[in-house]
Amino acid sequence: MPERPPEYPPEYRGSVQPPTVLVVDYGAQYAQLIARRVREAQVYSEIIPADTSVADIVARNPVAVILSGGPASVYAEDAPRVDPELFETGIPILGLCYGFQAMAQALGGEVAPDGTREYGRTELRLTGTAGVLHAGLPSRHPVWMSHGDSVVRAPAGFTVTASSDRVAVAAFEDTERRLAGVQYHPEVGHSPHGQEVLRRYLREVAGITPSWTTASIIDETVAAVRAQIGTGRAICGLSGGVDSAVAAALVHRAIGDRLTCVFVDHGLLRAGERAQVEHDFVAATGATLHTVDAEKRFLDALAGVTDPEQKRKIIGREFIRVFEAATAEVAAEETVGFLVQGTLYPDVVESGGGSGPGSTTATIKSHHNVGGLPDDIEFELVEPLRALFKDEVRRVGIELGLPETIVARQPFPGPGLGIRIIGEVTADRLEILRAADAIAREELTAAGLDGTIWQCPVVLLADVRSVGVQGDARTYGHPVVLRPVSSEDAMTADWTRLPYDVLERISTRITNEVAEVNRVVLDVTSKPPGTIEWE
Ligand code: XMP
Repeated sequence: MPERPPEYPPEYRGSVQPPTVLVVDYGAQYAQLIARRVREAQVYSEIIPADTSVADIVARNPVAVILSGGPASVYAEDAPRVDPELFETGIPILGLCYGFQAMAQALGGEVAPDGTREYGRTELRLTGTAGVLHAGLPSRHPVWMSHGDSVVRAPAGFTVTASSDRVAVAAFEDTERRLAGVQYHPEVGHSPHGQEVLRRYLREVAGITPSWTTASIIDETVAAVRAQIGTGRAICGLSGGVDSAVAAALVHRAIGDRLTCVFVDHGLLRAGERAQVEHDFVAATGATLHTVDAEKRFLDALAGVTDPEQKRKIIGREFIRVFEAATAEVAAEETVGFLVQGTLYPDVVESGGGSGPGSTTATIKSHHNVGGLPDDIEFELVEPLRALFKDEVRRVGIELGLPETIVARQPFPGPGLGIRIIGEVTADRLEILRAADAIAREELTAAGLDGTIWQCPVVLLADVRSVGVQGDARTYGHPVVLRPVSSEDAMTADWTRLPYDVLERISTRITNEVAEVNRVVLDVTSKPPGTIEWE
């Protein structure tokens, strides 16, 4: 029988694996956050599934293991177990929440469903001996708890260092064996001293020297890309967004002008976006760029189409065709063997893995044989951001000198303004929307709100008209909708309560400066039920 591929293969693509903390994922949403916090403490970390064997963990040679929180009760039949052998390996281990209880249980302590459910903000009280983990912290401070069971007796050899109103054992440590745990979630913002506790664990208890910095990420990734591509050539599609730009900049640093970037201008971009790629990106990196002017092709294909799904399909299809034709052109001249993609670590974890342990590549084959793409062209994927979280990608981009406009860009959909015109997409309508959108973005930036909102689509209701009066004249123009949203991950969103004076400035400027628009309306729908984009 074929072996089941590991769900979370070793992802690090560097030439030498940096000192690594493994975060065991017990199925809550916290594992990624823990891994990010560990990296903020400048120690590289990866997530592994709960059923990873002790032998596999030891083989990875981690500098520490963190057992994450999780929704299960240690009493449940199907609760993920911690193999007690893990504690015999000598690897430093930190247990958090569920991981803390599982650790207590595995080492002979006692966990009880004692009816002391604690959820949310709780006061932590340090006992007489604050221990190493909480040394120097206020003797009472808030932490974030969410648990039903609690540890009622610490295992032998451990010092109890904190309690709460409801639980006697809220933190323990055995610094001799480099083992420790806390009942609360130090990784969340609601535990204001949590990052300090994680940092103290890594440095003072586990004895790890911090080494994961933006400079080290760049050095190691560049070395890995060089090792993978060798003397070959690569191609990278730029979208105008942060991921593809940073991936391209890293690969360019590694192989210089053996990288060719391809940018498809589908005519559905916002004001200034093509210039950002053609001028700012190129000026910052010196990379070779091949722009494809495909506006007419996209507008022709979209002529007469009003159905949102059909628009998306047409834009997606045309994009692949244009990109493949451009790629084939470049590849035919220069025998390109590698395709760069901006895949991030969360995508790797969420899709259940990559291509296998130790592997640095996966092969894809282009299916659309358009524009003379030879049958046998196969690209090997280069994914320089595969080990990185988004905030790390942004820091790398800044360090590589990419402009703020690209690195800090808010999400923008691939189909672009095509799905923000309700009705048929035409060149005139795109001009109107582009002008209105530019004003909204300018004013939001000027008001310092870019960090507060997730994004603010501006939507043109092209098939709707309403009566207005501008100057002394009656107008019959179009409304635009402002859709400011706040979100963590775009899965859910709330409409952002923008200050009235900012809304007023946006509205006044749009109706004054964009002749065809005589009304600005605000979308006050959360997601669900409304999606962020209108189409
Ligand atoms: P919805 O409208 O589904 O959007 O609430 C959620 C997030 O995804 C973005 N979005 C897209 N991004 N290609 C993309 O790259 C797309 O086709 C696409 N459609 C929506 C949207 O801007 C929001 O951030």
